[in-house]
This record gives sequence, C-alpha cells and structure tokens, in this order.
Amino acid sequence: MVNKQSKTKRFGILTSGGDCPGLNATIRGVARAAMDKYGMEVVGIRNGYRGLIENDTQLLSRDDFGGILTRGGTILGTSREKPFKDKDWLSGEKNSAPELIMRTYEKLKLDCIVVLGGNGTNTTGYFLAKEGLNVIGLPKTIDNDIVETDVTFGFHTAVGVATDAIDRLHSTAHSHNRVMIIEVMGHKAGWLGLFAGTAGGGDVILLPEIPYDINSISKHLVDRANAGKNFSIVVVAEGALSKEEAKLDKKEFKKQREKSSVSIGYRVAKEIEEATGLESRVTVLGYLQRGGIPCAYDRVLSTMFGTYAAEMLFKGDYGKMVAMRNNVVEGVPLELVAGKIKPVPLDSQLVFAARQVGTCFGD
Ligand code: F6P
Repeated sequence: MVNKQSKTKRFGILTSGGDCPGLNATIRGVARAAMDKYGMEVVGIRNGYRGLIENDTQLLSRDDFGGILTRGGTILGTSREKPFKDKDWLSGEKNSAPELIMRTYEKLKLDCIVVLGGNGTNTTGYFLAKEGLNVIGLPKTIDNDIVETDVTFGFHTAVGVATDAIDRLHSTAHSHNRVMIIEVMGHKAGWLGLFAGTAGGGDVILLPEIPYDINSISKHLVDRANAGKNFSIVVVAEGALSKEEAKLDKKEFKKQREKSSVSIGYRVAKEIEEATGLESRVTVLGYLQRGGIPCAYDRVLSTMFGTYAAEMLFKGDYGKMVAMRNNVVEGVPLELVAGKIKPVPLDSQLVFAARQVGTCFGD
C-alpha cells in the first residue's frame, strides 16, 4: 500500500568521492523504500556532483535497483567534484558550478537531493543547503572519519580486506624470517589501520594520530627477535608520520615528503632495516580496500541508513546526514558535519586494548 502523503515527491540521488562497497546497497535502501512505500520518483545523478553541474541525470525505474545489494562500486558512478572551489563561484562570476547545480535542481523539479559520500561530499551538501536546496547526506567512506556517526558504510568491508591480507602476510613473514610492513588507506585518520592492525594481530601499528619514533619501533622489533620471534608484522596507516615530521608546519611537511617518491610504508621499511638490520618487505594494499562486494555488516548498515533516509524524505526532514549513534540510526544536522574529520581519539579503548596485548604504536 503506497502512502501518498510524502513531503518529497521526486528526489535526486548521487554518489561522490572515493567509491566503496555498500554504495549500491544504500542506493537500494533509499530507492526501494521511497518508491514502493511512498510512491516517490527517483532521479539518478551520474558521477557525483558533476552530474548535477552537467545535468547528466536519468529518471530511474524499480528495475534499476534489482540485484545491487551485493554489487561493489556505484551504479551511478562517482567523481571528486568540489563545486564550491570553482573559481567562477569564488569570483562571483555567472554560470559557476554551484549555480549550474541549482539550475539543474530547479529544471528537474527536485524536492531534495540525497548525497552519499564522505567529508567533502557532505560538506558540499551543507553548502548547497545553505543556498536553499533540500539535502540529505549519508556517511560513506572506508576511512570511518566522519564526525557525528559511530560508523560509516564501507569501513567494515575494508577492515575485512585488510585483515585478510595481514593474515596472509603472517605465513610468508614466518617462512622468510622477515618484518612485513603493510600500508593501508584511511586518508588522514587511523581507523582502518587500528581496526585491521588489531584484528590481524599486528605487532606494530602506526597511526597519524600517534607520530612514531623509529627508535621505539626498532626496540620493539629487536626485543621480539631476541625473544625468539622470527618475524614481525607492522601495519602503517597511509597518513602516519614520524615525531620529527609532526613538528613541521604544513609547508615544510609537504616539502619534506616531496623529497621522497615512495609512500610511507616504504619509508618506514627503510628506517627499520637501517636501524635494526632486520630484512623487511612492503605491501601497499591500495584500492583493494575499496573493491569487491560489501560484507554482511555493511549490507545491513547500508539498508538501515538507506531506508532511514527514505523516512526523512517522506517527512521532509532535510538538511541532515543519516548517522548511527549508540546503535540508533538518526539524522544529524549537516552543519555539525561540514568541514570536520574524526581522528582516532588518543584515549580510544581500542588503542588501550591493543597496547594491553603488547602492540607497539611507535611512541
Ligand atoms: O577516502 C577514501 C580513500 O580511499 C582514502 O582512504 C584514500 O586516501 C583516498 O580515498 C584515495 O583517493 P583517490 O581514490 O582519489 O585516489
């Protein structure tokens, strides 16, 4: 039975920023509930905000959402378009990216846009809401670094991929008596490194939030070797940095990093070999953490988030991002999310737990 009392009759939906498993499950949750329960029309917007700028859109049918619960990536495509960084917008020129977005929104007679994305996407959503558009955000990222929500969809699937990789590295590290360094994603936050490093039994976990001292790492690895452990696993978040680097300002840090053409995992491996003489090898997991099908948890989370967004559309509860807080799904004002990232807190219970089982964080 369709309830025709919805405040939203027609909305656009887009996916923006880095892709991840769970995007299609979330799209499915929003669209199926909105169409089947409330009779709404769904307009697919291609390639993130670029689809709004270029009016690259298409009215979607129920069939477009069949069989996508377990599909990785996004059926809509994505981009890293940042409309409010457009020079025409900044200089007040006509036909700026935000202006084109607002024109498309009017032309398509949308009552709302639903944006699935990370910090940048939800920040752009907030700016568009300030310009008068109705916006609902959904927290997507493998980095889990969005404030006001306990978890983002895509995160736990990436933790599973990275953990499986760490498990595999144990056997080859053991066979070759080596130190295995595995570099994981996570952008400027250490959530992915912390969760996968703990789940994978990493001996050392390096996070952006805890700048490392190579002497502390080396002592831990040499102590392990002297205690008869013939291998070690070092998990390095891509945003990790040394104590020395942490003292540099942004410009000096950038200059320092430009001197080296290799990523942090390789730099840490070199420092470890030079300091300890222990043979080291590096694996950079990269985009494997963004690929594949969503894990069961993310399918459930995506369905809960997506259908909750449909409720918000029905009630006309705009200007918010769907969030999970203390195991309850609710809407939080986009204003509280915009422009922020959520680092691992230094008093994190998981950091404490990992230390209790002997993990070294390089400090
Ligand atoms: O935000 C997700 C993420 O995978 C980060 O972990 C990573 O640093 C970044 O995207 C990579 O960006 P791109 O896909 O543009 O190379």
